Amino acid sequence: MILSLDQGTTSSRAILFDEEAGMIAQGQYEIRQSFPRPGWVEHDPEQIWESQLAAARDAIAASSAPADSITAIGITNQRETALIWDKATGTPVYPAIVWQDRRTAEQCEALKAQGMAGEIAEKTGLVIDAYFSATKLAWILDHVPGARERADRGELLAGTIDSWLIWKLTGGAVHATDVTNASRTMLYNLHERKWDDGLIEVLRIPPSILPEVRMSGGDFGAADKQWFGADIPIRSVLGDQQAALFGHTCLEAGSAKNTYGTGCFILMNTGTEAVTSSHGLLTTVAWGMGDELYYALEGSVFVAGAAVQWLQEGLGLIVAPADSEEKASEVEDSEGVVVVPAFTGLGAPYWDMYARGAVFGLTRGTTAAHLVRATLESLAFQSRDVIGAMEKDAGMPLSGLRVDGGAVRNNLLMQFQADILGSDVTRTTYAETTALGAALLAGLTSGIWTREQLESFNKAEKVFSPQMETEERERRYNAWQDAVSRTMGWEKH
Ligand code: G3P
Repeated sequence: MILSLDQGTTSSRAILFDEEAGMIAQGQYEIRQSFPRPGWVEHDPEQIWESQLAAARDAIAASSAPADSITAIGITNQRETALIWDKATGTPVYPAIVWQDRRTAEQCEALKAQGMAGEIAEKTGLVIDAYFSATKLAWILDHVPGARERADRGELLAGTIDSWLIWKLTGGAVHATDVTNASRTMLYNLHERKWDDGLIEVLRIPPSILPEVRMSGGDFGAADKQWFGADIPIRSVLGDQQAALFGHTCLEAGSAKNTYGTGCFILMNTGTEAVTSSHGLLTTVAWGMGDELYYALEGSVFVAGAAVQWLQEGLGLIVAPADSEEKASEVEDSEGVVVVPAFTGLGAPYWDMYARGAVFGLTRGTTAAHLVRATLESLAFQSRDVIGAMEKDAGMPLSGLRVDGGAVRNNLLMQFQADILGSDVTRTTYAETTALGAALLAGLTSGIWTREQLESFNKAEKVFSPQMETEERERRYNAWQDAVSRTMGWEKH
């Protein structure tokens, strides 16, 4: 068996997989969200650890199998969320600052004003933003009394959630992270494959507090037997979006996945080449295996499932998100109605924080069904925006899109996604692609599976192939782009 630990933003989950990668048992606990001030988001690191441990113990207990029959542990985690703890006592000096937290936006503006954007993009593949870990760590060092001095004396350790879990599981023996998590800190040099001396200095992070960076499929020590009754080796560690890419077995350059959650996280494998984006996408490490780093381009859509929630809670047009398919099916098509859900501005490839949502093409005949259908279509249009940018950046066409997340059960949306992309959209058998990805990589690293086997595990459950004529596809997509352009800058009025 392989034990996969999936520490996400809202919950800690643990899933046990058998030798055919079938799910045997699982455990799950919610994570408390704390919003101490507007724009601040924190998690309690002790609760993260305790909930993750309890979820793992629940999964093992539910399987009735002895802990020593678990070959390896794989860890996947919410990315960018960062914390600092005392090396001797293990006590966090401050709560974990979550990836969504905006408190360091001003420091990021200052970095931009110093002219750091080009150097940071070139070295790390990232845009300067409070999203990433570096400024969060600096904030803790600057605001917790005595923290900087203690860090300089070598008394503190820092890390993202993976490092925290590894350190706790190994009883403090291993302070490490993997290349994917490192690539989300804004401190990791993708080309030199190490913490960047210059950036560490500019961002004022004492090098002694940073974890050692290891390959995602590698040796991270063993979970101490005090936790599960047997020592269990930790053989994979990777960020959750990368794990989902791996779980979809998007192992070839040009393959991509889209996770439809509140927003959409889209990653495209670009192989061993770190492709620099000219369209506002991030360059990130997909995973490290053997001696090789594999890279991905990443783009996010801010509002996806959240637009369907708006249909329910804001407009009352549907009772539950799952009703959206039936409602949208009441009409043949959206009859020219276009919904642009730019509720919080627009991300890649537009990057306009002043854009706001709009509905176009209303007529006296427009019904709730048209609005629901057009809103669903907006998820597909926005995904094509990001994927189109990826294709241009990577200089390679998409070789099919694999999908996961709540909205993929919506057949109408998935068919429209295939239609508007002009390529196949594959829904796979596993709903838990993230946990599966960490398990697959741990199994591969442990030598129990081959790469060929991995591809046979997460099979296609349904493939949606494009049925729309090219001319119609481009007409609809042009209308979408025209609609988007009219929403830009709206907030400035
Ligand atoms: O970059 C943030 C991402 O890793 C969070 O994913 O699934 O925990 O919301 P999730």
